[in-house]
Amino acid sequence: MSDTIPKRALIVGASRGLGLGLAETLLHRGWTVTATQRRTGSDLERLKADRLTVETVDIDDDAGVAALHERLGPQTYDLIFVVAGVATQAHDPAHAVPRDVAAQVYLTNAISPIRFAEAFRDRLAPGGSLALMSSVLGSVGLNESGGWETYRASKAALNTLARSFEIRHRESGISVFLVHPGWVRTDMGGAEADIDVATSVTGMADVIEARLGQPGVAYFDYRGETLAW
Ligand SMILES: NC(=O)c1ccc[n+]([C@@H]2O[C@H](COP(=O)([O-])OP(=O)(O)OC[C@H]3O[C@@H](n4cnc5c(N)ncnc54)[C@H](OP(=O)(O)O)[C@@H]3O)[C@@H](O)[C@H]2O)c1
Repeated sequence: MSDTIPKRALIVGASRGLGLGLAETLLHRGWTVTATQRRTGSDLERLKADRLTVETVDIDDDAGVAALHERLGPQTYDLIFVVAGVATQAHDPAHAVPRDVAAQVYLTNAISPIRFAEAFRDRLAPGGSLALMSSVLGSVGLNESGGWETYRASKAALNTLARSFEIRHRESGISVFLVHPGWVRTDMGGAEADIDVATSVTGMADVIEARLGQPGVAYFDYRGETLAW
């Protein structure tokens, strides 16, 4: 980063996997980072950095999100990145997933990130971006292989909600990114995935730093490739 004032990021869902990796990478790049875990005692607390603040929030808990907004005060962020997501019973076809399980995947992956974005929109710094962790599986047009049905549907819903969110706030010039991290070796991605966390988060950080503040809504992967809706 060439700017003398460190950029600030709020990374939501950073107890492990990609969120933890992103927090670590942005710290290495000189950013000041506030990162959240769902419960205390996660690996995030073992990251040692002066520029790191650890908070605790469950994105499905509206009162908890409002309390976090209050606790963090008027501080603004150049990047607010909602990484948190779930893939419960992703290998079962939609009709075989209990209704409450399918509903919870939709709530956590689509509704909660948008509610978080709305709650923290006033904390986005001028020239900053709001990023939401999507997936290539959220692309309707690129679905040639099926599978991961309720997860796919939840990320497709996130994409469409993010487009409506951007349209609703377009007059303010808001910048919204829907990011596919690649197929990554995390608890969710599994050991057979294509790439490791370092490759994914380095790529995402490069693309985000290059595109920071670009108005509109963009859907791209960790290499900066634009994805079809
Ligand atoms: N790995 C991949 O190949 C891949 C590909 C495409 C997209 N993604 C997306 O990337 C994101 C991160 O995935 P990952 O691979 O890092 O998965 P992961 O290792 O399973 O981590 C998921 C993270 O989300 C957090 N989380 C889940 N529900 C939450 C809630 N209600 N409130 C707050 N935090 C919550 C988890 O917290 P706890 O530790 O408390 O459970 C954890 O930090 C997800 O949105 C996922 O859909 C991953």
